[in-house]
Amino acid sequence: MMSPSWHYPRIIAHRCGGALAPENSLAGLAVAARLGIRAVEFDVMLSADAVPVLIHDETLERTSNGQGRVADWPYERLRRLDVGRHHHRAFAGERLADLHQALIHCQALGLAANIEIKPAAGHERQTGRVVAEWVSAFQRECAAAGSQTVPLLFSSFSEEALEAARLAADAGAGAGDAPARALLCEEIPADWQTRLQRLDCRYLHGDAHRLQAGRLAEIQAAGVALACYTVNDPVQAEQLFAAGVTAIFSDRIDLFAATA
Ligand code: G3P
Ligand code: MG
Repeated sequence: MMSPSWHYPRIIAHRCGGALAPENSLAGLAVAARLGIRAVEFDVMLSADAVPVLIHDETLERTSNGQGRVADWPYERLRRLDVGRHHHRAFAGERLADLHQALIHCQALGLAANIEIKPAAGHERQTGRVVAEWVSAFQRECAAAGSQTVPLLFSSFSEEALEAARLAADAGAGAGDAPARALLCEEIPADWQTRLQRLDCRYLHGDAHRLQAGRLAEIQAAGVALACYTVNDPVQAEQLFAAGVTAIFSDRIDLFAATA
């Protein structure tokens, strides 16, 4: 069964629920859905035993009660970590989620998911491949249950990870089911078109604060959708939309709920 293709809403919740919930948490997905947000972004990295887990940093200290590097701990240990208390005591007990749990929640909540492949240094190819394999398995699970998967999009700063994800998704998905891909950049490079072609990426994601008008004009002229992170000011968002930016990633989804 074909998955619906990716279409950008204007607002994408950054790290699941933005600033309203612990970042990259299942609780954040519920918050986004409750506010009427239609798409979320989250970061995925591998545990020591190659389980994709939702986390932004290579180390555990900032967002959990764990210590050390994500890539040094097996999933069995990571999944017991509390990722809620650092945000607010109301979220104490929130556990570090894996990719499958996140996809199940997105599916149940009807949230399109931008999976940002966030490899720890040195794990680029493996992370791209494993994430794509897990997504293919999830798509097969949905198909077996007779349901369409919610729209899915891969993105990464790592071109190696994107390339590996492309190969694995093409090998694992049913015809037409491989998620679309976006190249994620800080400043959009001058050779962005060559890079998109080489990686067979359809979309660009870039830092809103490093966006140059000339580059945006090129991107628009080429008819390529550009989504910008991280935009928490509605005035800046309107300026970006007026200039031709397709979507924004925001931590303040509460400010955008009505326009999502
Ligand atoms: O995917 C957009 C944005 O999440 C990229 O930056 O560091 O928040 O993952 P970061
Ligand atoms: Mg991210």
